[in-house]
Amino acid sequence: MKPVVFISKPIPSEVEAFIGLHCQIKKWCEATPIPRQFLLEQMADVQGLLGVGIQINEELIRHAPVLKVASNITVGYNNFDLVAMKVHGIMGTNTPEVLDETVADLVFGLILSSARRIAELDYYVKQGSWQKSDAEKLFGIDVHHATLGIIGMGRIGEAIARRAKLGFQMEVMYSNRNRKLDVENALGVRFSPLDDLLKTADFIVLMTPLTTETRHLIGPVQFSLMRPSAIFINASRGETVDENALVDALQNRKIRAAGLDVFDREPINAEHPLLKMPNVLTLPHIGSATTKTRFDMAMLAAQNMVCALKGEIPKNLVVELK
Ligand code: DGY
Repeated sequence: MKPVVFISKPIPSEVEAFIGLHCQIKKWCEATPIPRQFLLEQMADVQGLLGVGIQINEELIRHAPVLKVASNITVGYNNFDLVAMKVHGIMGTNTPEVLDETVADLVFGLILSSARRIAELDYYVKQGSWQKSDAEKLFGIDVHHATLGIIGMGRIGEAIARRAKLGFQMEVMYSNRNRKLDVENALGVRFSPLDDLLKTADFIVLMTPLTTETRHLIGPVQFSLMRPSAIFINASRGETVDENALVDALQNRKIRAAGLDVFDREPINAEHPLLKMPNVLTLPHIGSATTKTRFDMAMLAAQNMVCALKGEIPKNLVVELK
C-alpha cells in the first residue's frame, strides 16, 4: 500500500502527479493558509507532510503517530522543532541550492532600489510631482565601487558576493560563524568580525538563517555601530532583526534607508511604522518567488519526501537531523 501524505498548500500539478506515483495524497486546496486545527485532525495516518512554514512541534507530533518526514518547500527551516523531531525520529528536509541565484537577484534589486530610490521616485513621477528644478532632491548614492557587508556567507551570500564583485566592482566583506577560504580565494571577499563590518559597510545585507543564536542578531547596539549613510537589507527572516530597533534607527536617522523582504509578522500590519517611511522599501517575502524557482523548490521538496518514505536518506535532510 502507498504511504499517505498530506500536501498542505497548492503545488504545481506536475509535482502532485509525481507524488501520486508513490503516495496516496490528502491535500489542502485553498490559497489561504491551512487552519492548524484542520491540519492536526488530518494527521492520524499521515507519513509525509509537505508544506511551507508549518510548525513541526510536539503538538503536531502528538497528532501524527506515523509521521516519518516533514518536507519544507523552503530553504529556511526555523519551523522545525529539531529537538522534538530528533526525539521522535522524524526526518526534516528543505530546498537549498535551487533558489540561490533567484534570492540573490532580489537582494540586488533591494540594494539598487534603496540606493537610487527607485520605488520612491516611481511614486513621485506617477503622482505628477516631477519638476525640472528638482535635480538634487532626486539624488541617491552609488552602488558600484561601494562596500558591501554580507552577514551569513552561505550559498545565497556567495551568489550576492559574486554579483557585487563581478558586476559592480564592490568591496565585499562578510561575517560568518566560520571563514570560507574557498569563497575568499575565488571572489576576493574578506572575512570580518561583525562589529567591524557594521562600522564599515555602505550596504549591509542580512542573509543568515534564523536560529536561537541569530534571533535579534541585529538590535539597538548593532544599529548604533552602522554609519548614518548605511543602507540595511534583510532577506533572511524578520526575527533576525529587532524590528523596534530598526524603526528607531530609521526614524532617528542612525541609518539612511532599509530594503526589507521579511518581517516579524507576515503579512505586516498595515499600520506598521515601517510602511510610513519613504526611505524603507518593503516587499511581501518574495525572495524565491519566480515561477521556475518555485516549481523547482516544490519538485525538490516532493523528491525529498518520496525518498524518505522509501526508507532512503533524502538529499536535503537538514544537518541537525543527520
Ligand atoms: C525560503 O525558502 O526559506 C525563503 O525564505 C522563501 O522565499
